[in-house]
Amino acid sequence: MKNRADNTDMKSPHIPVLLDEVLCCFETMPAKGVFIDCTLGYGGHSKAILSKFADIELIGIDQDPEAISFSQRALADFGDRFKSVYGRFSDVLPQILNQYTVCGILADFGVSSLQLDKRDRGFSFHSNRLDMRMGPHSKLSAYDVVNRYSLQELERIFREYAEERAYKKVARAIVAARDEKPIESGKELADILGRVLYKRGKMDPATTLFQAIRMEVNDELGEIKRLLDTLEKRPPAGAVVGLITFHSLEDRIVKQRFRKWSSSCICPPGVFRCECGDDHAIGDVLNRKPLTATEEERRRNPRSRSAKLRCFHFKDTEGRDG
Ligand SMILES: C[S@@+](CC[C@H](N)C(=O)[O-])C[C@H]1O[C@@H](n2cnc3c(N)ncnc32)[C@H](O)[C@@H]1O
Repeated sequence: MKNRADNTDMKSPHIPVLLDEVLCCFETMPAKGVFIDCTLGYGGHSKAILSKFADIELIGIDQDPEAISFSQRALADFGDRFKSVYGRFSDVLPQILNQYTVCGILADFGVSSLQLDKRDRGFSFHSNRLDMRMGPHSKLSAYDVVNRYSLQELERIFREYAEERAYKKVARAIVAARDEKPIESGKELADILGRVLYKRGKMDPATTLFQAIRMEVNDELGEIKRLLDTLEKRPPAGAVVGLITFHSLEDRIVKQRFRKWSSSCICPPGVFRCECGDDHAIGDVLNRKPLTATEEERRRNPRSRSAKLRCFHFKDTEGRDG
């Protein structure tokens, strides 16, 4: 453990997105309790939350040991107010919800800049490996997806996650290349994709395909659904939840679930008269439209361009609100 003086100049490899918006979203949460940061990363959001809300404690979860050990040092000044837990949030969250009075929950989905930029993590076009696992204990890697998935499975991920029109052509090119020899690196994969895709606009056309493989490797949509299922089964009374997404499929999942949670009537569409009792809402959506980055933040941190924050306030069961 480093001493206090060591922490002050620790430079984070990741800029937290929508920081002001996140702090604003949690202004209405109870002043005391345990805050859960499901995607601790390099502790940028957690640090700001611990600084702004002086009476809360915070538990940060991450499946990447590099992120956990960085944040343990970066947040050491908060002493016992901060704890970190290594693991997938879908595995860890249910137990924390059972154990503590939770006041707020944040998740900033996706990967950190360090994971993307470090070549040996195998996420980027320039990597000399193909890995993309956020947690080293996950069984599936990008190498497995690219070299072992069937043609149909590759087509599915490029169609569903990348919404790529040429998904068949791309999947066929991968299968043809790996028939010659296994595809070992991000560079080789980027070359194969570069030969079959046309450049549209400024973005490299392979970007969304790499992202699709990453989403498959880490079961990113499945993780979001499981997080929402956990909260639905056991809504934390009075707590505020803020979820930051970077992909339209992620945002749709969050938007639809928040809409369901705020619906008082759950009768099937088309019924003549409400028969469900009309009291099923478990809280309120705090912002109908997602919060997005300002022009200034987009310039300063291009990663913020696709970020969307949606916030939800669970009813307090003692009737103090909702
Ligand atoms: C976008 S970064 C979070 C950055 C963080 N908010 C900050 O300010 O530094 C996402 C982090 O969440 C972690 N992560 C993503 N999915 C996860 C999951 N299902 N369970 C646990 N950690 C996850 C990643 O390893 C990564 O460190």
